[in-house]
Amino acid sequence: MSLLSGTMGRLFLLCLTLISVFLAPALASQSYVVYMGAPLQSSLQVTRTNQHYVMLSSVMGSELAAEEAMLYIYKNFNAFATKLTPEQAALLAEREDVVSVVPNKKYQLHTTRSWEFLGLEDAFGNVADDSLWKKSNYGEDVVIGLLDSGVWPESKSFSDTGLGPIPASWKGKCETGDQFGPEYCNKKLIGGKYFLKGFEAEEGPLNTTETGDYRSARDSDGHGTHTASTAGGNFAPGANTLGLANGTAKGGAPHARIAAYKVCWPSIFGGGCYTSDILAAFDEGVEDGVNVFSVSLGSDPPLDPFFLDGLAIGSFHALQNGITTVASAGNAGPSPGSVSNVPPWMITVAASSIDRDFRAFVVLGDNVTVQGKSLTGEKLDEQKFYPLIDAASAPAPGVNASLSMFCLPGSLDEEKVKGKIVACLRGISARVDKSFQVKLAGGIGMILSNAKQNGNKLMADPHFLPSLMVTYEDGQKVYKYIEATKNPIATILPTKTVLGVKPAPVLSAFSSQGPNTLVIDINKPDITAPGEYILAAYTEARAITDLPGDNRKVKYNIISGTSMSCPHISGVSASLKSLHPNWSPAAIRSAIMTTASQKDNAEEAITEASAKVSTPFGVGSGFVNPNRAADPGLIYDISFTDYFNFFCALGYTKKNIKTITGQSFECPEDVPKVSNLNYPSITVSELAGSQEIMRTVTNVGSPSSIYKVSIISPPGVMVEISPPTLSFSALEEKKSFKVKITKVSDTKDYVFGTYTWSDGTYSVRSSIIVKTLAAS
Ligand SMILES: *[C@@H]1O[C@H](CO)[C@@H](O)[C@H](O)[C@H]1NC(C)=O
Ligand SMILES: *[C@@H]1O[C@H](CO)[C@@H](O)[C@H](O)[C@H]1NC(C)=O
Ligand SMILES: *[C@@H]1O[C@H](CO)[C@@H](O)[C@H](O)[C@H]1NC(C)=O
Ligand SMILES: *[C@@H]1O[C@H](CO)[C@@H](O)[C@H](O)[C@H]1NC(C)=O
Repeated sequence: MSLLSGTMGRLFLLCLTLISVFLAPALASQSYVVYMGAPLQSSLQVTRTNQHYVMLSSVMGSELAAEEAMLYIYKNFNAFATKLTPEQAALLAEREDVVSVVPNKKYQLHTTRSWEFLGLEDAFGNVADDSLWKKSNYGEDVVIGLLDSGVWPESKSFSDTGLGPIPASWKGKCETGDQFGPEYCNKKLIGGKYFLKGFEAEEGPLNTTETGDYRSARDSDGHGTHTASTAGGNFAPGANTLGLANGTAKGGAPHARIAAYKVCWPSIFGGGCYTSDILAAFDEGVEDGVNVFSVSLGSDPPLDPFFLDGLAIGSFHALQNGITTVASAGNAGPSPGSVSNVPPWMITVAASSIDRDFRAFVVLGDNVTVQGKSLTGEKLDEQKFYPLIDAASAPAPGVNASLSMFCLPGSLDEEKVKGKIVACLRGISARVDKSFQVKLAGGIGMILSNAKQNGNKLMADPHFLPSLMVTYEDGQKVYKYIEATKNPIATILPTKTVLGVKPAPVLSAFSSQGPNTLVIDINKPDITAPGEYILAAYTEARAITDLPGDNRKVKYNIISGTSMSCPHISGVSASLKSLHPNWSPAAIRSAIMTTASQKDNAEEAITEASAKVSTPFGVGSGFVNPNRAADPGLIYDISFTDYFNFFCALGYTKKNIKTITGQSFECPEDVPKVSNLNYPSITVSELAGSQEIMRTVTNVGSPSSIYKVSIISPPGVMVEISPPTLSFSALEEKKSFKVKITKVSDTKDYVFGTYTWSDGTYSVRSSIIVKTLAAS
């Protein structure tokens, strides 16, 4: 699995990913998870453990060999992880008492201002009495478990100021290892464990010298620290990156407790997060007493069926224990069908922008001012002008100008560049590396211009010099000024953090999109949350970028990705769990989805980066509205039987179902369709004539209330709901209704509509997503 973060600071990993592609064929799985799927009774643990060794010895030839090969014996799954040859794996899979043998697959790892943007506090940091934060006491009694790259315990975001005693039910701990242990933990950071055996079985021993990582829950990557502090970081005033985005950093549930389960590791093969380690983390997290799992990692399509997907199995186990799992949708957007982490028992999170921008300006000698973006805190004397040069006219001796124009490593002539602002063209090398090359050659600033094919899309990067990125058109103005002027000059004004930018949110271009390629009739992602330029705590074990020579370490870093949007929802889920301890994971997701907003801060429908209006494939139900989610009126709950019927609807065998659930289930003769899972959205991907779908809502609003439905049918489709009125006379009362969807004309592609239950106070909205079968 890979961490799902954006472009910044991941250059090194990107390079390594390329290497790993070439090496991939040589890296066939060396280890497997073997499932027996008997009932979950921990009293049988000792007997079971013996049985596992006996079973493994039977294929390994000896008990000693079995002991050496065994990686994990899980406590809550009747399963173990072990090294095996493919032949041994096949032998085990044939056994009657084994329900499946799953390869140890690799998954990849996929803020201050963002909370105000979500309406949890005002611009002055004041929190309203009716906000989810106040109502939930900032999530103080809830534990968020992060499956990630670990945690940097010294961060101010993990201070336990203002927190009461650790919840009595907590059974976890901070496991001793490299520079980590109980002495690094407190009433905020209450757990830290590491799971490495599955990784080492595949990629060899962790080399701490080569990777700079720690054999412990300590985070050398930064990703885990960032996600943990976004989900549950305490109030940390004065947090900023290189002086930018200065403010009080805090998480989605600022007083929630944090437990770090380190499952992602670096290596020269690219590193990653392995199934057997992930399952071990879920296994222990459930035992420890985690309330919400936050999982910012995944594997892009093609997606494995749920019974082969460690994240799906682990999170189903969490669900069986009443624990919510929140996961990132992936960074493979905007192409259709790119969404990952699609089990209907997870909350799947897309990413979008917030209303903050990092603006910088260059003033040319003719007083023409050009606006761009930057994340650097470095400044020039803005009263002064400096000589300006096109990098194309400053190639190092023997270097072609067609290379130096991109400011590639070693391509610039120090004689010509020294003391000047240099104009570089985007392309070929990493954006931040260009300002690094200008700095190495003695330059004092950089203007990075988009090439024609890059258009207007700008990125704010942590450059090494006073620098900014400008659009293609604006770049042309700079180049033309240089060409037309004998002694061109310019100055770069300091980067400013600008708030109130409109429109926001805008769905991030990288955010993975539906349709769901595994279960087409369950829409994913479910929801969108802030995921661009998110400021949160970081590791101090590495610099802000991975460029050799970068030694700028920061306590807080700004990064982008669905990895960053996921923990926003984890924090919100933790607060909701604190406010409504009896709500199921399905109820929490329902509250988040049916109360989401579809409008941006310009009161228009939320758009994508391309400016077209986003559909539920991009934003799911919309942008999270935490204060409304606290009090949704009605919820769509899902029972265990519903999930079993769902597996039957997918055509899963008894063994498949046992692998996921640990239980035997007899599918009914008349299997309900996938669309009938009581989800807060409705998807019908192959509508022929008409289809009837059942839904059931539970009253959690006013004891006595009458809800009326309003429907916006998708174009070419007619939607009818009966009964159109639901009367409740008590809380927890359930009412069912029928949604009849009828084809009127061929829709060719997907079409979208909504239905909303309202009682005058509450408004409970669901998306309808339909594609008709073409008439033959
Ligand atoms: C770890 O990496 C370093 C640096 O590449 C190398 O010198 C060392 O031999 C490696 N150690 C092991 C145990 O592989
Ligand atoms: C950040 O803000 C705090 C409080 O407003 C202020 O004291 C501090 O100097 C600021 N830091 C930077 C780097 O701007
Ligand atoms: C640019 O503006 C400054 C200050 O307003 C002025 O002194 C200078 O003459 C202007 N330069 C040009 C080339 O217009
Ligand atoms: C520089 O590169 C361009 C494009 O690749 C090529 O057309 C040109 O001949 C090269 N010039 C020299 C001096 O090598």
